[in-house]
Amino acid sequence: MMRIKKVVLAYSGGVDTSVCIPYLKKEYDIEQVVTFAADLGQGDELEPIRRKALEAGASHSLVDDLIKPFIEEFAFPAIRANALYEGRYPLSTALARPLIARRLVEIADEIGAEAVAHGCTGKGNDQVRFDVAISALAPHLKVLTPAREWGMSREETIAYGESCGIPAPVSKKSPYSIDLNLLGRSIEAGPLEDPMTAPSEEIFEMTSSIIDSPEDAEEIEINFERGNPVAINGKALDPVSLVRKVNQLGGKHGFGRLDIIENRVVGIKSREIYESPGLLLLIKAHQELESLTLAADVLRMKAQLERHWADLIYQGLWFSPLKDSLDAFIDKTQLYVNGVVRIRLHKGNAIIIGRDSINSSLYLPNMATYGKEDKFNHQAAEGFIYIWGMPSRIWAEKRKG
Ligand code: ARG
Repeated sequence: MMRIKKVVLAYSGGVDTSVCIPYLKKEYDIEQVVTFAADLGQGDELEPIRRKALEAGASHSLVDDLIKPFIEEFAFPAIRANALYEGRYPLSTALARPLIARRLVEIADEIGAEAVAHGCTGKGNDQVRFDVAISALAPHLKVLTPAREWGMSREETIAYGESCGIPAPVSKKSPYSIDLNLLGRSIEAGPLEDPMTAPSEEIFEMTSSIIDSPEDAEEIEINFERGNPVAINGKALDPVSLVRKVNQLGGKHGFGRLDIIENRVVGIKSREIYESPGLLLLIKAHQELESLTLAADVLRMKAQLERHWADLIYQGLWFSPLKDSLDAFIDKTQLYVNGVVRIRLHKGNAIIIGRDSINSSLYLPNMATYGKEDKFNHQAAEGFIYIWGMPSRIWAEKRKG
């Protein structure tokens, strides 16, 4: 096999990806490990992470702010698709992976690396998402996955790191495995592996507990144009500021927590805790506006396709022909998803209390009203029902004894 001289490693600053640096150099005999850390709005200090990679032996350590494309190109399509995996998980982690993969591949091409690498283990969904996305975008690149191969326990990984001069983590060891970005946090492992053990309050950061949330309800309005959220309480915001604002509003009122058993791509069930106040709130509001602006049959077809869309993203198939084709349908439906949704936030709830669309509403007051403005043709109902009920009458008649 051709010797790999240069690799780009997706880097988070954690133990596993730090150990990947000396491991790739030693065990894979690679000259240069270039690390890449993405800023996805996780709020980590990125400069220490950049330096940490160099200390662990990286020849270059790159950090890119990808928050804008993350929200515009990945989160907003998910909102337009009302994407909830298995009806619940808003894909906050899954949506980040194809973007990181895309940037990894770009960097590899820019610096002439023959391979890319990531620190995912062999049990999760993220490895599937990275590997598939990379192979779709750059089939010529090799994907190295040290953590999937080395078979070291956490203690062994730390010891291996120490032998290469990587200090053991100093912070109090958390039993949890956490992934976070501007769209949400996922918390797994430790005591949560028992599906009957309730999550303790300290694991949450984006959402307040019901007890600590304000006694008073707060009413907010979210405006959409062509299916994209554009304003909060009448104030236009750029996509990133808007998501930050909705996270803050939902989180303050304790909205957006999930505690679920989820079916992973690799065939196992896992217990997952999520908090994703902004994304869940935006999907809820968007769904509501669609109920006002989309025709009944379009709504029903879209609901079926949405499940497929969410499955594709979860299963690592962002770059795939079916995703591409579903997007064409979804984008077409969004042309008239314009208007506003009013929501009451209170004690963990987000209750829809109003919706309006000046140009695109299919709700006709003079058809719906029970008042004197009623324009519905009541007599026409008789003929309609006569024909509509014909199959039932024929069937019932034939079966009479
Ligand atoms: N179960 C979620 C998903 O598959 C969260 C994964 C979190 N990833 C991680 N490396 N901790 O999208």
